[in-house]
Amino acid sequence: MARQLDAATREALVERVRFYRDLGLTEFYRRPVDAAMLAAEADEAQSVAAEAEVEPAVSQSNVFEEEPAISARKSIAAPPEIAAAVPAMDRAAALQMIRDEIGDCTRCALHKGRNKIVFADGDPNARLMFVGEGPGADEDAQGLPFVGRAGQLLNNMIAAMGLTREQVYIANVVKCRPPGNRTPEPDEANTCTPFLFRQIDVVRPQVLVALGATAATYLLGHRQPLAGLRGRVHPFRGMQLIVTYHPAFLLRDPRQKKEAWADLQIAMKELGLKKPASGS
Ligand code: URA
Repeated sequence: MARQLDAATREALVERVRFYRDLGLTEFYRRPVDAAMLAAEADEAQSVAAEAEVEPAVSQSNVFEEEPAISARKSIAAPPEIAAAVPAMDRAAALQMIRDEIGDCTRCALHKGRNKIVFADGDPNARLMFVGEGPGADEDAQGLPFVGRAGQLLNNMIAAMGLTREQVYIANVVKCRPPGNRTPEPDEANTCTPFLFRQIDVVRPQVLVALGATAATYLLGHRQPLAGLRGRVHPFRGMQLIVTYHPAFLLRDPRQKKEAWADLQIAMKELGLKKPASGS
């Protein structure tokens, strides 16, 4: 019978899986547990942790059973090019209409644990938009996306591009905080993303940056390892989508910042932004 994991071990395990997933490793197998070794373990907590060890798999056939499958979302049609374009002066009002329609949302289970709905932040006429996964504790408290530690790093990434946070538009796959910062469940993401797609279609940024695997998955409509999506431009609803690492992942593994910077430079090239002079 499957052993119940305590909350701390489970959270650590989820973090580990998330870490590998951000690296583009999405298939896992459970390491067989040596019964003799387990018996020798004096500490019960340690043995639970040992059983929870996972390693990235070489084989595609062994799927780590606790990772929820992301079902394909219903396709959300791109609007006809001209008819759907909201004039720049009306975009703030159009976004407010979407916010009003969301209301005090109870469409999925995430509403039960949230404090504030995190709709978006930034310029309704931005040429550059970032999409993250979902609010964390700070965002849930303030009602704004990316205001915690990951947000500070995102602000630095935006500044490195020669822009300010006020010049871009920032939103998430889900607008309510998942408990314990877990990855949104497919039904939660699929319930929320139609609003995100409407926000994207109103702002119509030239370039959209998906931060991490969850944003990439739900924007593109299919799951694929991040490694295979980074480093290039994906045509997306008449816009250009670039996939890069989530800032929270970069906080855990700062060595990947240079890869993220390479992705952001692709975005800058598309936007015609000059690379800041080195040393500035
Ligand atoms: N992580 C996200 O994906 N979004 C936020 O708004 C904050 C942290």
